[in-house]
Amino acid sequence: MSKKKDMDSIVSLCKRRGFLFQSSEIYGGLNGFWDYGPLGVELKRNVKDAWWRDMVTSHDEFREYPGAPQTFHMVGLDSSIVMHPQIWKCSGHYDLFHDMMVDCKLSKKRYRYDQLKGRWVTCPGKTASAQQVERVFVTSGAEDPTPDIEARAAKLFGLRNKEADRLVWDGGVQSLGTVEPSQFASVLAPDVDSLGTFTEPREFNLMMKTILGAMGTEDDAAFLRPETAQGIFVNFKNVVDSTRVKVPFGICQVGKSFRNEITPRNFTFRSREFEQMELEFFCHPGESAQWYQYWRDRRMKWYTNLGLSGERLQLREHHQDELSHYSCGTSDIEYAFPFLDAGEFGELEGIAHRGDFDLRSHSEGKLDPKTRPLEVEKDADGNPKWRGSGKDLSYFDDQTRERFIPHVIEPSAGADRGTLAFICEAYDEDEAPDEDGKAQTRTVMRFHPRIAPVKAAVFPLIKKEGMPDIALGVYRELKEAGLNVQYNQQGAIGRRYRQQDEIGTPYCITIDGDTISQKTVTLRDRDSLAQERIPLDKVTEEIQRRLKG
Ligand code: GAP
Repeated sequence: MSKKKDMDSIVSLCKRRGFLFQSSEIYGGLNGFWDYGPLGVELKRNVKDAWWRDMVTSHDEFREYPGAPQTFHMVGLDSSIVMHPQIWKCSGHYDLFHDMMVDCKLSKKRYRYDQLKGRWVTCPGKTASAQQVERVFVTSGAEDPTPDIEARAAKLFGLRNKEADRLVWDGGVQSLGTVEPSQFASVLAPDVDSLGTFTEPREFNLMMKTILGAMGTEDDAAFLRPETAQGIFVNFKNVVDSTRVKVPFGICQVGKSFRNEITPRNFTFRSREFEQMELEFFCHPGESAQWYQYWRDRRMKWYTNLGLSGERLQLREHHQDELSHYSCGTSDIEYAFPFLDAGEFGELEGIAHRGDFDLRSHSEGKLDPKTRPLEVEKDADGNPKWRGSGKDLSYFDDQTRERFIPHVIEPSAGADRGTLAFICEAYDEDEAPDEDGKAQTRTVMRFHPRIAPVKAAVFPLIKKEGMPDIALGVYRELKEAGLNVQYNQQGAIGRRYRQQDEIGTPYCITIDGDTISQKTVTLRDRDSLAQERIPLDKVTEEIQRRLKG
């Protein structure tokens, strides 16, 4: 299946079966925002629940986890989205959380300098447009830029389509970020016909601003959090003082974050509103390297345990020049999404060794000398004004009598990106026999049973002979056990199976003639298509056993 068709089929299934809708669709949509439909909300909730259960509720503080230097506590938190503006100054987001962007003076459109794609081209014996330029960098804002770049280059050099082979390409498609601003006179921006229309690259802060209270002045400006992490750091002392936790321990949070992405794209992959699942793990500086290793490996396993295949998933250590302003080591868990080119991967989760950057800067307002200084405000005499909270955020170990600022390991995952990866991985088309034994193409979402939005469907084979009543009894018993199940008595049984395959329901239960005579039902498995008979009074138990499996 082609890459394009693959993604198109996935997007269309998501809309058709109620996984994902464009936000504000009846008003033409809003770029970078998405709504989860009835099945999508279940799927994403299952992903978040699996994370929360594995990290918080089922964590055993007395257990020795393989690879962990010692036993540890894990607790949860739900902090507010809007927080004191100084938090963003001390976290570095106010001064450093930006993308470089370029504006086109003609089209008035804005692009990310490092993301807009283009290609160098010449045409022997010809110059481009009125500007008489010989070598041009032709860009395209299209999802698949190559054909658009070729068509635009031919037009620019005044060639007809059949003369396009006169173009001489210099290298492959690359980002505008590889082109020096001094060469911008030779760049053709998307959607315009003249060269040299881009401004110099400029910094664009990604935080979303809001105004608090009724006065509406700039002094009332605040920001929607661009990450949930800072809510955890500023509550570090509260958690230590109000619970039994001792370093090493982790604080987990799941919640919305907002970023004013310049070019939201690739379905939910890069959105302006999204959800994060973040853990800040506080440990002794001397043990932080071991904890970093532990969390990297454990988080990677989480995705494979939930069904992401080994060959589409990779763990990539960042190069020194890729590290965020606070990080002294980061690796990404990445997935080969079908909308990417072959060999490309997209980030699902970053595991960062943040050192003592955050606690120190929320305390002192000063930063690790290895990072850029954040606070450049001056007092009346022109001296730098460091403005942390002034609160002591160090930790006192009452066993060793040592006081220190803990180091932090941060596994930070995107709930929407994870959900999208599970959707892409689950999508499959295969051949399955219909009721007459004829092979038919079926679309099947092979979700891991733990995250499948619907766990089972119950059908009476026919709408008579008491079958619907028995089927409704089974359905209600499964519901009472807390399982999301569906009941359907309409249409041919094969069609009902296929409808469930398409939304990834792992098990279908059919009540038929034998149910009445022998008190058994048919249990059909989505993946193996195997049908077995199990006792009617053991259905709930059997489904629960398989879901745990
Ligand atoms: N506290 C660290 C932090 O926020 P990040 O790499 O910027 O690190 C963590 O974000 C995760 O959040 C990413 O791996 C990704 O899964 C998700 N994420 C970030 N920006 C996103 C966006 N614009 N749309 C959807 N998910 C996003």
